[in-house]
Amino acid sequence: MLELREVVKHYQTGNEVVPAVDGVSLTVEPGEMTALFGPSGSGKTTLLLLAAGMTPPDSGAVLFKGRSVGELSARDGTRFRRSELGFVLQQFHLVPCMPAIDNAALKLVAEGMSRRAARKRAAPWLERVGLAERREHPPEKLSTGERQRVAIARALANNPGLILADEPTGNLDTSRAQEILAMLADISHGEGVAVVVVTHDHEAAGFADRVHTLRDGKLLDGTPRAASTRPVSAISDVG
Ligand SMILES: Nc1ncnc2c1ncn2[C@@H]1O[C@H](COP(=O)(O)OP(=O)(O)O)[C@@H](O)[C@H]1O
Ligand SMILES: [Mg+2]
Repeated sequence: MLELREVVKHYQTGNEVVPAVDGVSLTVEPGEMTALFGPSGSGKTTLLLLAAGMTPPDSGAVLFKGRSVGELSARDGTRFRRSELGFVLQQFHLVPCMPAIDNAALKLVAEGMSRRAARKRAAPWLERVGLAERREHPPEKLSTGERQRVAIARALANNPGLILADEPTGNLDTSRAQEILAMLADISHGEGVAVVVVTHDHEAAGFADRVHTLRDGKLLDGTPRAASTRPVSAISDVG
């Protein structure tokens, strides 16, 4: 679904060149969760921006369903992100005082859907993240874990093929973080969505189907988890 081939992105700051992403190749399949580890500054966010077509690579290719997203025009890039991508960020970016259901429906309304239709479309996703009973609660009346769930419902509301989550558990305590990671994995496996989750949290490895570690813009490994710990559906194509 998503394929990065020898992707390079260097930033020039003054006289210094920062090799933010330095020759990364990886593939992300539907129904799989990929966890991306790496210390601060290792290029994780840049990698997600490249995957989203929000920054063009200096060289290499970023392909989504076989199409290059590296050189999309501004307009096609926006269209691609609207139809195919969902973002989950560390800061939840929810609108204050707005009911959870409307926050979940926000992207759809921004794309021109009526509030009523958007709420209807977002409702099953809010239910999917376990917040059916909280649908009229604004963010201020929700816990941090619940806020992140609303943000996940919002990311899913347009039925994206790919969810890019940049440190979605960075503001959560350990057990809330685990819940969110388990939920992302479950959604990925259950709905056939590809999920890429950037995290510092090594517990995420326990939920992910693939684990990659970035250091100084380079991938250290691309090892899938052991077959025995992968979901049953994936075991058959390992051996
Ligand atoms: N817009 C930018 N201009 C210049 N340097 C940048 C820019 N964005 C990121 N960098 C640098 O690129 C490297 C990778 O950054 P980033 O992708 O944000 O890493 P991470 O998300 O792993 O912390 C860092 O050294 C960072 O300072
Ligand atoms: Mg980052």
